[in-house]
This record gives sequence, structure tokens and C-alpha cells, in this order.
Amino acid sequence: MSNILKIIQERSSMRMPFDMQRPVAQEDLQQILEAGRWAPTAHNMQNFEIIIIDDKTVLEEISDIKSTVSEIFIQENYQQLSFSEEELLQKKVGILGSMFPPSWQTPGVKPVAAEGGSRPFPICPTLLILLYDPRKRAPASEGDFLGAISLGCMVENLWLEATALGIDFHIVSTLGNGTVETEVKRILGVPEPLKIVFGIRLGYAVEPPAHYLRVRREVEDFSHHNIYNRMLD
Ligand SMILES: Cc1cc2nc3c(=O)[nH]c(=O)nc-3n(C[C@H](O)[C@H](O)[C@H](O)COP(=O)(O)O)c2cc1C
Repeated sequence: MSNILKIIQERSSMRMPFDMQRPVAQEDLQQILEAGRWAPTAHNMQNFEIIIIDDKTVLEEISDIKSTVSEIFIQENYQQLSFSEEELLQKKVGILGSMFPPSWQTPGVKPVAAEGGSRPFPICPTLLILLYDPRKRAPASEGDFLGAISLGCMVENLWLEATALGIDFHIVSTLGNGTVETEVKRILGVPEPLKIVFGIRLGYAVEPPAHYLRVRREVEDFSHHNIYNRMLD
């Protein structure tokens, strides 16, 4: 197996608490950003900006932001959930319902939010905020689909390099949503019309999960030879 394939398979999401006494070394952070710098982007547009946050006061201010879960999130999240490891192993896509609070697992049931909302950002020693400028679009790309893919390529480079360096990585999409985005932009002085894609927690988990089931479809489940050869779901 090539080294790159090994790192690709090792890369994973670390949703556990991070050790605040163990910061990410500057040279490691520079290497992670260097990997992002060389990502492919549509028309080489390099349509990203990254804010690096390691100031504890700023991190605490962001981790104090509260949000409530939207109905649309509950409904669409539910479609992706499996309710047992057996079900997830069989489906090979989606995530385990046990990763979410019980009140997020029932469509049509109003989510029981913690009083005043829950905190979407569990604090970490280094937070990256990924920004893009919606005025800079990939040419002739409906909905700037190619621009969005370009951001994805860049993030994957960051993630693979972090994995290679043994640094835990966790995407927090909520930091780019609704009132949370507005609040983060205010704290960081992000000007209009820039948008937050999401936040990325970097660091070292205090204690990794004892067991984390990760599933993928088999190659033959998504590959087609010469002709599209499968019934639609
Ligand atoms: C664009 C994007 C957004 C994501 N947003 C979140 C998120 O908000 N919270 C989270 O815990 N994981 C998030 N993830 C991680 C995925 O849930 C995760 O990659 C997927 O379940 C596969 O698990 P693995 O990363 O451990 O292989 C996101 C991943 C991507 C690519």
C-alpha cells in the first residue's frame, strides 16, 4: 500500500475533547497550511482565506456562543442515521445515531435544546476558520459548485497533513451557520461579504474514543465499468 493511501485511510474525525495544555506546534501548523496552499482549485482561483485562532480569550468567546438546532437539520440528519452498528455496517453510508443527543434523532419531534441553546464549538487549542468570498466564483459553474469542490480539496489537504503529523482534526459546520456565523464574524472582525465555510478544531484528544466504527461503500458499489449499470434507489 502506498504511504498516501495509508494516511487517507487513517484520517478520521475526532469529536472528543481536546487537551488545552497541548498546543499544536507552530512548525506543524505551517506544514498543514503549506499542504492547503498546494491544493488544486478550479481555475487555480485559490478561493480561500483561513483565520488561525490560538488566543485563549478568543477561543473561549467562540466556545461560549450558543445555538439551537433547526428543524431542517433534525429532518435531514435523520435520513443519514443508523440506530445500531449492524445497521451501519449493512448500509455502509451515514453515521450512528448514538453520536447525537436522543432529541435530535426523531423527525417531527421538537429538539429539546439545553436552556438557552447548546454550544456547538467544543474548545480546542487551535481553531481554523475557513472563509470564502462569494463574489469570487469558478467561471461558468452553476451555484459555484466548482468553487465549493475547490474548498473541499483544500480542506482534504489540510486534513491529510494533520493526520500525517498525528494531529487530531474535527470539522464544525455549525460555525458557518445562521446566527452562529454572524457572531463568529463579529468576534473575528470578518468583513462582508465574506462567508464562513466552517471551523476546524486542531489539537490532541484528551482521550480518543474506545471504539469508532467507520464504514464505506465498497469500490464496486460506486464504480461503473464503461456504462452506468445500476438501478437508482
Ligand atoms: C464538508 C464536511 C462537513 C462536515 N461537518 C461536520 C460537522 O459539522 N461535525 C462533525 O462532527 N463532523 C463533520 N464532518 C465529518 C463527517 O461527519 C465525517 O467525515 C464522516 O462521518 C466520515 O467519518 P470520518 O471523517 O471519521 O472518516 C464533516 C465533513 C465534511 C467533509
